[in-house]
Amino acid sequence: MFFTSLDFLKVTETAALSCSKWVGKGDVDSADQAACEALRSILNTMDIDGTIVIGEGERDEAPMLYIGEKVGTGSGTPVQIAVDPLEGTNLCANGSPNAIVVLAAAITGEGHLMHAPDCYMDKIVVSQECSGIVDISLPASVNVRLIAKALGKDMDELTIGILERDRHKKLIQEIRDTGARVHLVPDGDLAVAIATLDPESDIDALFGIGGAPEGVLAAAAVLCYGGEMQARLVFKNEEQRSRAEKMMGSNPDRVLKTTDLASGSVMFAATGVTTGDLLRGVRYRKNSAVTESIIMNSGTGSVRRIETHHRRQVQIKNNKMIFLDFEQNKVAN
Ligand code: FBP
Repeated sequence: MFFTSLDFLKVTETAALSCSKWVGKGDVDSADQAACEALRSILNTMDIDGTIVIGEGERDEAPMLYIGEKVGTGSGTPVQIAVDPLEGTNLCANGSPNAIVVLAAAITGEGHLMHAPDCYMDKIVVSQECSGIVDISLPASVNVRLIAKALGKDMDELTIGILERDRHKKLIQEIRDTGARVHLVPDGDLAVAIATLDPESDIDALFGIGGAPEGVLAAAAVLCYGGEMQARLVFKNEEQRSRAEKMMGSNPDRVLKTTDLASGSVMFAATGVTTGDLLRGVRYRKNSAVTESIIMNSGTGSVRRIETHHRRQVQIKNNKMIFLDFEQNKVAN
């Protein structure tokens, strides 16, 4: 069965439409559940033999989209799927920027997505102009100066995205001391990482420690878009380290490059839930909703930004007009 990144676009759009009902409602769990259910129901209509390799967690801690869960009709191509049904659950619940729905897919045997353990990951992401110049083993101040030089920018023209966390206090100061600007985000380092890849965006690099699963999804985007990612897993305890050792083989502390995390033929799709650094969120008009998405394919090297207008569909039942939810439009497609 043949499929394209457009098929995955439908999946992320539907999940974004579904959880956008929960934007600003302060209900983290319902927002996440709405995204998960929508994402899973559309994936299950696809003729793929899909396996979730990065999802909501292990089978015993996630009711759905858990690692190892089979998705799709099961009759088509074997595909590894990494998902973050709602990246930035708090952002969605608070109506804050950068909540997105994200999916990456690799055809088994032709592409690969690292089965990352659920731990932290120290990351640097830079755009294509800065490929080959950063080294995560060097001090951040050195890397930031190298990035400024490669981009031909003065230090105070450079913007570095970082998650606002206590663990980053030293890093933030070190970067500010170089004269660079720091763009702090309360959550959602994945949207910032992907925005970094776009030369039109206001962010020149992502630095700092965030989730490892988000790191693999970021690497999938880097592989498709061009750019570079360097990373290192960060463990809270020995148990996490030995789990990682089992999953990745020896030396779980090694530096991971883009292609260690994502390689070969990979498709990527993300849709905005709330407007942020990467995408506009879901907007509602009279009987329609508008989504913005980005879809990419490492095989063809294509990156597309897609604005979709979803007209609300109507069904007539017992001589009455019934307006369907926007995500039901998609299921009917
Ligand atoms: P969730 O959507 O799972 O809440 O993730 C949000 C996020 O901010 C990610 O973008 C980031 O990688 C991770 O959490 C950082 O984890 P922590 O909040 O523990 O620092």
